[in-house]
Amino acid sequence: MELAIDVKQVTKNFQKKVWALDGIDLTLEAGKVFALLGPNGAGKTTLMRILTTQFKPTSGEARVFGLDVKREGGKIRRLISYVPQEMSVWTDVSGYENLLVYAKIFGIPKAQRKQVIHEAMEKMGLTKVANNLVKTYSGGMVRRCEIACALLIKPRIIFLDEPTIGLDPSARSVVWKELIEFKKEYGTTIFFNTHYMDEANAYADEIMLINKGKVVTHGTAAELKHSIGGEVIIFNTGKEGIKETIIDSIRKMDVVKDVSIDRAELRIVVNDAETALPRILDSLRSQDMPITQISMAKPSLDDVFLKYVGTKLEVGGRLSDVRHMRIMIKKG
Ligand SMILES: Nc1ncnc2c1ncn2[C@@H]1O[C@H](COP(=O)(O)OP(=O)(O)OP(=O)(O)O)[C@@H](O)[C@H]1O
Ligand SMILES: [Mg+2]
Repeated sequence: MELAIDVKQVTKNFQKKVWALDGIDLTLEAGKVFALLGPNGAGKTTLMRILTTQFKPTSGEARVFGLDVKREGGKIRRLISYVPQEMSVWTDVSGYENLLVYAKIFGIPKAQRKQVIHEAMEKMGLTKVANNLVKTYSGGMVRRCEIACALLIKPRIIFLDEPTIGLDPSARSVVWKELIEFKKEYGTTIFFNTHYMDEANAYADEIMLINKGKVVTHGTAAELKHSIGGEVIIFNTGKEGIKETIIDSIRKMDVVKDVSIDRAELRIVVNDAETALPRILDSLRSQDMPITQISMAKPSLDDVFLKYVGTKLEVGGRLSDVRHMRIMIKKG
């Protein structure tokens, strides 16, 4: 088994104040698709920047394909590609010209450049628009163009920071379709940060959740969902704001594993809904909680996130700027 990533007790401190990473451990086998999840400011981008040798860790060890990020950065950079959270192509030149610039930066010999660029554009479904200005592209095409730049060197691992932020669901699925096809052909390891739980659920072999620079949980989507319980009973109250006393009383019930609130919804994790539901319902009624709807679901990654982080994953902070910028580009 070859390890693509091997991280031991990595910390990162900024300006002697912020502990962006506070003792991260992670091993990832080569060829896997890995999703890093966490709320704004959790440390996702910082970890990715350490693994791509842009920052040095304050302490701890990090290796990429056995190479040390502190001492062997040059060798690592020849094996990896990185698509940042921010925009990484020029909009006033064509897609082809963007790839040409990157091909030169990567040192791809002149005689091979044209073919390599055409191949990368084809892999990302951009052949027809190769010579159009990037500012005429849709948001999804811009992102695929950025990924095509990163694929020019056929990396052993590709790091994608929020690969589909701001894209609509159909554009997101096209990005993933092309990425997965590329991965199948070249066995590339994929390491991505995301705010979209459905993408982590659908595409990642392994998911790690971090918060405040620490690992909260790590496993397959099925393991994470299983770890929180068997079923979720969802009570809709019709309006936001559920009394703390009600939440406390439900949390104390022996049939209840966990309780969280998502706007007007009270989400209660139980092992067995059939036995738990009548008792919970009695309790809620006796406390006069309005109920407009009751539904049942299997735990989702959102429930995992709610349990471990306490809030639902929202796009905010610096990320909303990125999303906003991408939407602006899409609108031209
Ligand atoms: N260059 C820097 N200088 C100082 N502080 C920084 C720097 N980069 C990140 N931080 C801080 O480190 C913490 C982690 O930031 P990071 O960007 O890694 O989070 P993130 O999980 O990627 O968040 P987001 O979901 O918003 O992209 C935050 O508190 C952030 O303000
Ligand atoms: Mg980030």
